[in-house]
Amino acid sequence: MKKRYLDRFSIEGKVVIITGGGGLIGMKHAEAVLEGDGIPVLLDISEEAMERVKKSLTEAYGEEPVMECIKTDITDRAALEEVRDELLKKYGHIDVLINNAANNPKVEGGSKNLGAIRFHNFPKEMWEQDIAVGLTGAFLCAQVFGEVMEKQSSGIVLNISSDYGLIAPDQRIYRKEGVPEEEQTVKPVSYSVVKHALIGLTKYLAVYWADKGIRVNTLCPASLENGQNEEFKEKISKLIPLGRMSRPDEYVCTILYMISGAATYMTGATVVLDGGRTIW
Ligand SMILES: NC(=O)c1ccc[n+]([C@@H]2O[C@H](COP(=O)([O-])OP(=O)(O)OC[C@H]3O[C@@H](n4cnc5c(N)ncnc54)[C@H](O)[C@@H]3O)[C@@H](O)[C@H]2O)c1
Repeated sequence: MKKRYLDRFSIEGKVVIITGGGGLIGMKHAEAVLEGDGIPVLLDISEEAMERVKKSLTEAYGEEPVMECIKTDITDRAALEEVRDELLKKYGHIDVLINNAANNPKVEGGSKNLGAIRFHNFPKEMWEQDIAVGLTGAFLCAQVFGEVMEKQSSGIVLNISSDYGLIAPDQRIYRKEGVPEEEQTVKPVSYSVVKHALIGLTKYLAVYWADKGIRVNTLCPASLENGQNEEFKEKISKLIPLGRMSRPDEYVCTILYMISGAATYMTGATVVLDGGRTIW
C-alpha cells in the first residue's frame, strides 16, 4: 500500500544542532536525527563525551554515521558564531536547533552529600553558572542559529525542559534515612527556574517567529532510569501513574516527530513525556 504520511517524518539532509550532545539524552536526540536521515551536529564542552556518543552510535548502526562533533561552550556567543559560519560554509543551511544542554546535577539516589546546595545557602556562583548554561545558552543559540532560520524562512527550535519545568521537585524522594536535615540532598533551585523559564522562552519565540516559518516547542522529559539505587527508584515510581522511570529510548520517536514535517501545525506547545507524573 502506498504510504501517504510516513514520509513526513523524514528529515533527510537536515542539519540538526544538539547542544549538550555528549550527554545521556543528547545521544538519544542524535539517534532520532539519524533515524530520520538527518545530520546531527553535537555541540558540547566535552570532546570525550562527544567521542563516546559517536562510538556508541557507530556500534549501534554498524558504521560511522554522518555527524559533526564540535567542541563549543554555548555560553560564548562568539564561539557559536564560529560554529554557525562553519556549518553554513559546509552545508549552506541550519534547519533545527535542540536546546538540550543544562547543568543537571544527578542528586537522585542520594549517594553524594550535596547538602551545600540547599536553598538557603545555595551559592550565587552556582546559580549564575546554571542559568548561564541552561537558559542563557538556549537564548544565545536561538539568537545565533535563529537568525539563519529567519533568512531561510524555515527552521525548528526544540527546547528540552523537564517535568520539573511544570511541577516542583518532591524533595522527599531525595532524602536519606539517618542524614541530618542540613545535609539532606535536594534538587537545586536553579534547575526548577531554568526548566520553567525554557517554557516561557518557547512561547515567546513561537509567537515572535510565527510568520517567519520557524516553529518553537518544548519537550518535558521526566527522570530517566540510569543506574539510580533501588530505594530511589521505588520512591519515584510511586509518584508516577505508569509506575516506573523512563528509558532513554522512549523519547526518540517524539523528538523525531517534533523536529520533522509531521508536526507542521505544532508551535508554542509543551509536550510532556512523564509517565503521567504531572497529572497527579
Ligand atoms: N536525565 C534526566 O533524567 C532528565 C530528565 C528530564 C530532563 N532532562 C533534561 O535533558 C537534558 C539533557 O540531560 P542529560 O541527563 O543528558 O544531561 P547530561 O549532564 O548527561 O548532559 C549535559 C551535557 O551538556 C554539556 N554541557 C554542559 N555545559 C555546557 C556548555 N556550556 N556548553 C556546551 N555543552 C555543555 C555537558 O558536557 C554534558 O555532556 C537537560 O536539559 C536536562 O535538564 C534530563
